[in-house]
Amino acid sequence: MSESLIKVETRGRVGLLTLNRPKVLNALNNEVIEELAQAVRTFEADDNIGAMVLTGNEKAFAAGADIGAMQSWSYMDVYKADYLGGHWESLRHIRKPIIAAVSGYALGGGCELAMLCDFIIAADNARFGQPEIKLGVIPGYGGTQRLPRAVGKAKAMDLVLTGRMMNAEEAERAGLVSRIVAVDRLLDEAIEAATVIAAMSLPSVMMAKECVNRAFEASLSESLLFERRNFHALFSTQDQKEGMQAFVDKRKPDFKHS
Ligand code: CAA
Repeated sequence: MSESLIKVETRGRVGLLTLNRPKVLNALNNEVIEELAQAVRTFEADDNIGAMVLTGNEKAFAAGADIGAMQSWSYMDVYKADYLGGHWESLRHIRKPIIAAVSGYALGGGCELAMLCDFIIAADNARFGQPEIKLGVIPGYGGTQRLPRAVGKAKAMDLVLTGRMMNAEEAERAGLVSRIVAVDRLLDEAIEAATVIAAMSLPSVMMAKECVNRAFEASLSESLLFERRNFHALFSTQDQKEGMQAFVDKRKPDFKHS
């Protein structure tokens, strides 16, 4: 039996997903993404999961879309299949938070997959880049859109047009990653962060994610209204009562995620 392309584990209320094609630096093909999307959807539907971590191995988070698979495709092949739509696109609609824990290469589709997650924790050996230009193409999985939103136009243009890589320090300075940790601490740090999130009230976590993402989709006035209405909505939850009561009682809240 062939080994699965995604390792799926749980750590308490955290779902851990590990890309598992080490021989090709976790190059992403349709099969990997379909398996990943299915695993993520299973965690999304599981009331016992509050957050997810997506990781690779020490050498590579993912070195991009699978070049060997794409090499012979024609325009009609990719257009008719809507390559990078379908399961690939579906990941952006996940409502629970996903942390990308990136060690080694996060290039092309790998960098784009990390950026599609809610935030990136990088190991000190991480390398980010959008090298598609060197292959005669351009980023096709969000790189030209999410990278400038994360690091600004100048650095995004530099990376997309030259195809150069940036290291973890540069990525953190530029705002692409939220924290850098020693490579051997990466998974623990990401799981700890996900555990903190998963202990919060799930409705507030989901609404917080939706509101922050709205900042990149709509005008400031619309987004502020969207935020305020979601803030109002949380006053209908048991967890708001519990969270505020626990603060007043000087104890830890016991959230029921409802
Ligand atoms: N697709 C398919 N196979 C890949 C791959 C990819 N993106 N990246 C690496 N591999 C394979 C290599 O072909 C090699 O396989 P073999 O052992 O069978 O030869 C194996 O992984 C190990 O890679 P290297 O020997 O090249 O390892 P290295 O340490 O010398 O170099 C690297 C590492 C700099 C990351 C180099 O592998 C590389 O440049 N990879 C391609 C990066 C890239 O161009 N990514 C963008 C892809 S296009 C894309 O992603 C489009 C999009 O927007 C969705």
